[in-house]
Amino acid sequence: MAHIRIPSADRVIHDADSIRHFLLSYGIHYDRWPVAGRIDRDASQEEILAAYASEVEALKQSGGYITADVVNVTPDVPGLQEMLSKFNQEHRHAEDEVRFILKGRGIFYINPENGDPVFSIEIEAGDLINVPAGTKHWFDLCADRTIRAIRLFREKAGWTPEYTGDAIASGYQPLCFGPTPIATKGFRLEQAAAIAA
Ligand SMILES: [Fe+2]
Repeated sequence: MAHIRIPSADRVIHDADSIRHFLLSYGIHYDRWPVAGRIDRDASQEEILAAYASEVEALKQSGGYITADVVNVTPDVPGLQEMLSKFNQEHRHAEDEVRFILKGRGIFYINPENGDPVFSIEIEAGDLINVPAGTKHWFDLCADRTIRAIRLFREKAGWTPEYTGDAIASGYQPLCFGPTPIATKGFRLEQAAAIAA
């Protein structure tokens, strides 16, 4: 289950309906797909895409996506920090950023165009998120530095970062709740310290 945090308002949102409603007000779609018992989440890309074929096809139809793949990030991926540094600075994309999380977790920060405060969305297994084209955002991993996700594209070339040049992201640490949601203020500061190191 995802978690939303609005640092400037000291507010967190944990329940799915509230998350869905909050994100929709910014044009971001959030949903949950089943994962438990569905497939071995370490299966091959082909097996994963076959297992989720009906959901992926429905998304392709509704969103005009053409292709899907499975991305796999682990702490031992060569050049991981370099890879992360491409996406943890504020940027936009010319097409939607659509992700369904199979395992691990990550954190999007959204900087709304309407001047509302920056908020974060921590996503984990079972979470589907669609960050629309043109949304100012950045992304980071949590302390486990692990994520496996289905991605959908209209065309992969559209999913390159267009940096805003704003250093706003440097003012936010990737504070993740981790595998066990913590009531309100028990952020895993040691995780933030670990990833910032
Ligand atoms: Fe992005």
